[in-house]
Amino acid sequence: MPEDMMHGALEDITKAVGNTPIVRLNRVTKGLAPGVEVYVKCEYLNPGGSHKDRLAWNLLRRAEEAGLKPGGTIVEATSGNTGASLAMLAALRGYKCVFVMPDKMSQEKVSNLRAFGAKVVMCPTAVDADDPRSYYKVSRRIADETPDSFYANQYHNPANPEAHYLWTGPEIWKQTKGDFDVFAAGLGTGGTVSGTGKFLKEKMPDVTILGVDPVGSLYYDFVKTGRITKPFSYKVEGIGEDFFPTTMNLKILDDIVRVDDKECFLMTRDMTRLEGLFVGGSGGAAVAGAIKWAKNKKGPLKILVFLCDAGQKYVSKIFNDDWMRENGFLEEEPGLGTVADVLHMRGKRKIVTASSSAKVKAVIETLKQLGISQLPVVDKGKLRGVVGEIDLLRHLVAGGAKASTSTIASLVESDYATVTPDTKLELLQNVLADARAAIVMESDSVVGIVTKIDLIEYLSTKSVEVVAVAKPKKVKAKSEKQKSKADKSTRATTKAAKSKA
Ligand SMILES: Cc1ncc(COP(=O)(O)O)c(C=O)c1O
Repeated sequence: MPEDMMHGALEDITKAVGNTPIVRLNRVTKGLAPGVEVYVKCEYLNPGGSHKDRLAWNLLRRAEEAGLKPGGTIVEATSGNTGASLAMLAALRGYKCVFVMPDKMSQEKVSNLRAFGAKVVMCPTAVDADDPRSYYKVSRRIADETPDSFYANQYHNPANPEAHYLWTGPEIWKQTKGDFDVFAAGLGTGGTVSGTGKFLKEKMPDVTILGVDPVGSLYYDFVKTGRITKPFSYKVEGIGEDFFPTTMNLKILDDIVRVDDKECFLMTRDMTRLEGLFVGGSGGAAVAGAIKWAKNKKGPLKILVFLCDAGQKYVSKIFNDDWMRENGFLEEEPGLGTVADVLHMRGKRKIVTASSSAKVKAVIETLKQLGISQLPVVDKGKLRGVVGEIDLLRHLVAGGAKASTSTIASLVESDYATVTPDTKLELLQNVLADARAAIVMESDSVVGIVTKIDLIEYLSTKSVEVVAVAKPKKVKAKSEKQKSKADKSTRATTKAAKSKA
């Protein structure tokens, strides 16, 4: 520090990054077993607004070591936070910034970046990562076309996990002396879990690293089953991916838990209103996931949860009742219903599955008997994938007479998505637009399978009920007709359902 500086002052704002407090949660944890405690690391109190301040410091440090000079342009694909942290550093060191964002990001995040003088380019969220319009591809192209540019590339830059290995991990170790059992964090680029997790495991080999993933992201299914299933869109920002960044080391995880948007957002609001912690959606997600995971655990158990960013950027969304209601996240809006309602309509039946060692012939027989077109494949309680009539048909055509005596192991496919009983039907329709089936999971067990026709049957039955309730007198005759149609539809469903389950 220069000698003539004011006593107690910091040299510049970057020196205020880190040393974020660890705080105990006291109210949202009610219901956990005695001795199960949840603590949070308040990264949202960093000056740039998130844990990405640490990442920006290391990205730029490494780039400057490799020859980057002030005056150049930093280009990055960012959901907002990395941009904010890079913009803060760029302002201090004399760089220009261009940030490329998916269009689901909150307006506050965009304005925040523009406030620092950065240029922001928006890209569609609902396109594959490989699509030339995706924010990953657009940012790469801009970096290639801009002279004296540095593509920060947080999804593939080893300086990302390194930032957390060199800084976040040691800081947590110093603050806690290792007095906790579980480190839980949301999974985005993976920088946080991979870097912090690596450091903590070196110091505390018995620590549990718990990843929290939103429903719709690729990570959960891949960790649980090794399969790359169909990702689908969700609202929580900053966590979950539809591709595998090289900055993510999934092997560091001891367990993974997933949460849906509603769980994330209700917990985010509770964190603010019950604990006084004004966090963003991924913080609510991480706490909701950690609490869900801890539900059946006994004390003593200390869980440390990483809170990435702050609530200010989400006041027009998570903290706005109209937005929450419009999206069906508040209780008073029933919406179309949930996956549990579709399963319920079919009545209670055991789900029928096949093991990957089952013979092609036997599976064909099961499909035929039950009148269904596909089955989940489960080995020793673990979901492996799905096998459907189209896979069996291709196999038989290609393999000739003996094909029916082989096992289905090589025919197990991944083009399904996994959902939970709480998944909203508004979301399920998007899921089924892309995936052949949605497999319903509860606590890692398969509890059902839902296809397009199930959803159609459920919704058509429901819409008949709504009409009948809304206009009972005037359309009495029609209602009867519809009722009989509905009955037929229910019967059809029951028939199909018998099969499916
Ligand atoms: C709000 C928020 N939460 C969580 C994460 C995930 O952190 P990481 O990329 O280190 O996995 C991010 C990353 O973009 C984020 O912006």
